[in-house]
Parts: sequence; C-alpha cells; structure tokens
Amino acid sequence: MTFIPQEIIRRKRDGLELSESDIRAMVRGITDDSASEGQVAAFAMAVFFRGMTLNERIRLTEAMRDSGRVLDWPSLGINRGVADKHSTGGVGDKVSLILGPLAAACGAFVPMISGRGLGHTGGTLDKFDAIPGYDTAPDLVTFAKVVRGAGCAIIGQTADLAPADRRLYAVRDVTATVESIDLITASILSKKLAAGLQGLVMDVKFGSGAFMEGYQDARALAQSIVTVATGAGVPTTALLTDMNEVLGHTVGNAVEVCEAVNFLTGTAREPRLAEVTLACTGELLVLAGVAKDMAEATRKMETALASGAAAERFGRMIAGLGGPHDFVERAGEHLDIAPIKKAVYPVRPGFITAMDSRAVGMALVAMGGGRARADQAIDHAVGMTGFARIGAEVGSETPLCTIRARDEAQADMAAERIRAAVTLGDAPPALRPVVRERITADNKETA
Ligand code: URA
Repeated sequence: MTFIPQEIIRRKRDGLELSESDIRAMVRGITDDSASEGQVAAFAMAVFFRGMTLNERIRLTEAMRDSGRVLDWPSLGINRGVADKHSTGGVGDKVSLILGPLAAACGAFVPMISGRGLGHTGGTLDKFDAIPGYDTAPDLVTFAKVVRGAGCAIIGQTADLAPADRRLYAVRDVTATVESIDLITASILSKKLAAGLQGLVMDVKFGSGAFMEGYQDARALAQSIVTVATGAGVPTTALLTDMNEVLGHTVGNAVEVCEAVNFLTGTAREPRLAEVTLACTGELLVLAGVAKDMAEATRKMETALASGAAAERFGRMIAGLGGPHDFVERAGEHLDIAPIKKAVYPVRPGFITAMDSRAVGMALVAMGGGRARADQAIDHAVGMTGFARIGAEVGSETPLCTIRARDEAQADMAAERIRAAVTLGDAPPALRPVVRERITADNKETA
C-alpha cells in the first residue's frame, strides 16, 4: 500500500483512532526517512494534543520495538529468568549498579541497556565510564557472553535497537512534544522491550529531581507503562519512588560507583537507597520467576548480599567487559576521584526540611560532572559525598555534604549551590517512605 503520511496525520489530528497498519506505516516512515522531518513533527504534535488509546499505544510501542533488532535470549543460550529494571532518572540514583549483580546472584539474568545523563539527572552509563577499561559498547557476542557468565551486563544503547525512537525523540526534543505520556511510554518501552525481556520493573520517580515532578503525572506515566508493557507481552510492575532528596550518600560518577561497591560489600548501606534497591530487585526476581513471592525474594537477596555473591557478580561483570579484575577489592585505587575535599556547612544550624534535588543535580553539571548538551564530555571524578538526609540535624560541625572538586574555586561554586538547594527548619519534618506506591496491571487503566 502507498504510504501517505499526511492521511495518517490527518486522522490523528481529527481525533480518530489509528489502525495497526497506520501505526506500522508511520513508524516505518520514521525509520527509513520516507516521512519528512515536518511530517514526523506533525505526527508527534497530533498525538500530543489528541492522545492515543491504550490499543494505539501498545501498537506504537510494538512497531517502534520492531523498527530494529529485537534480542532473542533463547538463541543466545538463556532460556529463562531474563528481566530488567528501568528508572525515569534521578539524582544520586545508583540502583541499577547494585540491582544488576544482586538479581544475578539470586538467579536472574539482567541484560541492561542504559543511557547517559542529561541535565540534572545522572546516567548509569556515565557511572560505568568512570571504571577504567569498562566497555559500554561491546558487540552482541560479548554482551551475551557476559550476561551468561556474570548474570548481568550493563551497556549502552546500540544503533540497531529501536531506531524509530532515536529519530522520533530527536524531533520531539525540538518541537515541544516530549511531555506526552503516550509518546514517553512508547519511547521508553520500545527500547526496553527490544532487549527481549520476560519481565520489567519500572522505577518511576516523582518530586523535585524527577523527570515527572508531580505525583499524579508520575502515577499516570507508571500506569501507562505497566498497561502497555503488559499488553505487549512483558509483565511489568512499577514503583513510584520519592526523588525529593538525593538517593544515597553520593552524587557524581566515580563516587556513586564507590557507594555501589560499598553497598554490595556491606561497608555502608544508606537506608533509602536500600529500600528502593531491594524493592525493585525483589519485584524483578518475582517477575523473572526466580522467586515465588516477595518473602522468598527477600531471603534470596539477604543471602546474596551477606555471602558476598552479589559483590562477586559485580566484579565478574566488570572484568568481563574489560575493567580491572580486582575492581571490587580495590575500587578506591582504580577510581579517579577529584583531589579537593571541601565540607559544606549550612548557613545556620537546624534540621533539613526540604531539598531541591534538581538544583543538586545542576550543581554537579556546573562542576562538569554532568552535561547540559548531549554531546558534552564530562568529568567523572567530581561530585559530592556524605549527603545528609532530610530530617538530619546539621550545623557548624555537621556538614550538608563534602564536595570533591578539581580546584578551590569549583568547590566554592558548588558549595554555594548546595547551600541554596537545602531548606532548614527548627524541627525535623515528618519522614515519608521512599517507595510510595506499587502499580501493577491490576490497577486497571481503560482505553
Ligand atoms: N526517556 C525516554 O527514553 N523517552 C522519553 O520520551 C522520555 C524519557
């Protein structure tokens, strides 16, 4: 059939439901460039204003997933237990670094395809770039070999996975159409589902450092992702987690890798980070079929952490992807952490009552540890450690955090930004759980 993009755009513009063949044709046009830039933009804007039914969203996700290679794990030697987690992005979010090896030590296989950070949110891939020798772009044979041998491998997006999303996202980015739950759902899921998963856990964040700041928006996105992924054949559970303060003690690339190693080896486990990580990993183990329920998953995770098996899997993955063979034992020696150490004291003593975690993420960007533009190089060595939590009492002896900077001027600039990002009060606020809600396919969303 002849492809006439303007007819498909017209139908969506007029609020009609697109058929599967309309959607497949449009996605083919986006992938092979037979739809012009203007037509892709008009399509995105029509979807933005008119929305998509659940059925359309499932078909769009499937068509975008199928626009490139879809991994087939049985043909790569893994027949069961393949699952993954995806986060909508946060500040200090190093959950994936711990979850991958922890889930692997419990019997799951985690082929995780991650992204780089942009703006205030960090990217998992940037954290792995801080590890000398670690290859975030291996060939498929190496990727599969590491997943088989270590149980997990965390690598970057390849050009042949969901290429339709790359073009559509680039157009959305410059046409004010990113903020469409329908398009975000298809964008995130097309890439994740191309990894050939049996189950997916979504960590959808809300709050000051989140992509979707408002709770109801984040909840709507979580619900959309769960229903669409399940409709496309991948059972999915979402957790809504609080990003109103940084996650864990550290923000930055090398320092976050260090925190992940300390978590895995049991040297330090910040409670909020532990809560999110264990909740996501537990869900993953159940979806992957390696635990029958959360109680069994919890027992498995406790054993894997206490025995050192999870830390050993992390080391195996790093060595398998070209990093040092003794990374877990000597992380401090292998990681380059910036030399200037400066404790940041609050403007007055008090309790931390709120934190603008977006501003904390931007302080890291201002130090060069994150990027404002996608093509920017970053400095993995800078960051912040020892971040105090909301509710902590801070003063002239108890800092908000410690900056790791290249020089004094950079440290002073970041310290000012951190002080401005923290609100102080005279009494500790009521603390809220970090995992706020669990969304499953049973929380029915209708078309
Ligand atoms: N992340 C994605 O991968 N796609 C979107 O559309 C938004 C966030």
